[in-house]
Amino acid sequence: MSIIKELEKEVEQKISKAGYKAEKFTFVPSSRPDLGDYQINDAMSLAKKYEENPRSIAEKIVKELEKDTHLTNINIAGPGFINITLSDDFLISSMNKILEDINNNIDHVSPKKIMMDYGGANIAKTLHVGHLRSANIGEAVKRLARLLGHEVISDVHFGDIGRQSGMVISELKEKYPHLPYFDPTYNGNYEEIDFDITPEELGEIYPASSIKAKENEAKMEEVVEITKELEEGNKAYVALWNKIKEVSIKDISAVYKRLNTEFDLLEGESDCYPYIKETMDKIEASGLLEESEGAKIIDVKKETDDSPMPPLVVIKSNGGTLYATRDLATIHSRMKRFDPNEIWYFADNRQALYFEQVFRTSHLTKLIKEDTHLEFCGFGTMTDSSGRPFKTRDGGVMNLKDLIESIKEETLKRINIDMVEETKREETAEMIAISALKYADFLPFRTKDYVFDPVKFTDLEGKTGPYLLYSTVRMKSLIEKVEKEGIKEVSFHKLKGTNDRLLALTILKMPMVLKKSLEVKSLNEIAEYLYKLTSIYNSFYAENKVLTEEDESLKSTWTALTKLTFNINSLLLKTLGIKVPEKM
Ligand code: ARG
Repeated sequence: MSIIKELEKEVEQKISKAGYKAEKFTFVPSSRPDLGDYQINDAMSLAKKYEENPRSIAEKIVKELEKDTHLTNINIAGPGFINITLSDDFLISSMNKILEDINNNIDHVSPKKIMMDYGGANIAKTLHVGHLRSANIGEAVKRLARLLGHEVISDVHFGDIGRQSGMVISELKEKYPHLPYFDPTYNGNYEEIDFDITPEELGEIYPASSIKAKENEAKMEEVVEITKELEEGNKAYVALWNKIKEVSIKDISAVYKRLNTEFDLLEGESDCYPYIKETMDKIEASGLLEESEGAKIIDVKKETDDSPMPPLVVIKSNGGTLYATRDLATIHSRMKRFDPNEIWYFADNRQALYFEQVFRTSHLTKLIKEDTHLEFCGFGTMTDSSGRPFKTRDGGVMNLKDLIESIKEETLKRINIDMVEETKREETAEMIAISALKYADFLPFRTKDYVFDPVKFTDLEGKTGPYLLYSTVRMKSLIEKVEKEGIKEVSFHKLKGTNDRLLALTILKMPMVLKKSLEVKSLNEIAEYLYKLTSIYNSFYAENKVLTEEDESLKSTWTALTKLTFNINSLLLKTLGIKVPEKM
């Protein structure tokens, strides 16, 4: 348990010693730092419950609190707000405990088994900006959930089948009609056909096909037919599609790697095929499946709905599966193979209604257990300064690789990395660029759209990834310098000045920030917290000359403070999936 949580428990006990029990106990950082560090707001609600004057309740509580040596300057403000200040001794011993083990500043959860579905790249298309946030946010939430004690299994859930595959195969047929895949008389081994395609070419195939299919009915019919045959196991198409999958997954995985995003399972929609029959049997057995114009649908409306809730189409009128069928079968497969307590999905806000339909269907047809929790974690769009989805200069969808490269270019305009060893410069520029991209993505609350301004977010000043990296690297180099010059020991002895104290108090808030972030599955609070902690540290750094300080115990404390801030920054940046360079 975190130190601050322990203190909270202690305070709660004092209140019950004073003779009161609050329904919902509130021990929170003070909104009036001039009056105290923390405040207790319960006297007012207790007054109602116990029919007593709030001030007199507050006075009795204060009497108990005064017995606690951790607390000083206990005072009552207004109708009965109790303000307390944490003693320097308490702060010093707390900081030493946290320096010794950072777990003393983390509140662990009661562990659950959680499956996380994020990434969601589509094989037929190059990885573009639309999938960026799913990777960034999903990865960070996974790391956070693990840090706080959950067991997490992550799955990329590639879009690896469906109409997009038909589009690609149909276009390849048009472009390379002589390939044996399209020769009905071919009776050789499809796996041995000599055909290669580059990710770049693949990137052009889908858009070209999609435009044609929109304008040309016959082309669309062919796409639908090929999709169906592929699903039904046409050997030629399966072999060709596997080849495309291999090329594409390799390419997409390389971008995920650059984004420090890792998956436990690299499965796709098509991996649910062996489970479709069982899934459909279960759905069928629920008796809820209806026929509608040849398709099979499920009514998921509830009386309490106050916005439209259309039925979910489970099987297409041509008997084929759709996105929903595959999500349902994937849920069945996940339950069967992993039996998770919860499944969290990270996808664009626009899929909210769809997921609600899928979740209701899963509950209604008992694909999941009564208490299995399915959650949709939607995210907003990254836009350019005009509020439109981030595009290339000529208006095309921005490819993620190009985006990363362009941010790297911006980074190098603003940040001089000449002091970095030549062999490490490329890697360092990449880390800074990724930090800019990721941090900008975490700052707004998950569901909000936000404007990505490449100039602003690559700046070394302000709320940016590069600012955090630069400051963190500087902390590290200060610690190294102090240690190199020789120091007897590094720990907290005394606090001097407002920034020392403020840093310690801010450090104690970390458990709360982590807990809240995980609750809402958004990283914005961690992003803000990192900025705040780092800024306070930088004010402290500007004010004090740690390296040349002659008072040994002060030098030891300040080095410890630097080390602790560095440790926290490193941990939180790592949790966000942001790598810190050695030097910059
Ligand atoms: N491939 C999908 C898309 O691009 C995202 C997948 C989200 N996850 C899921 N289980 N449906 O829209």
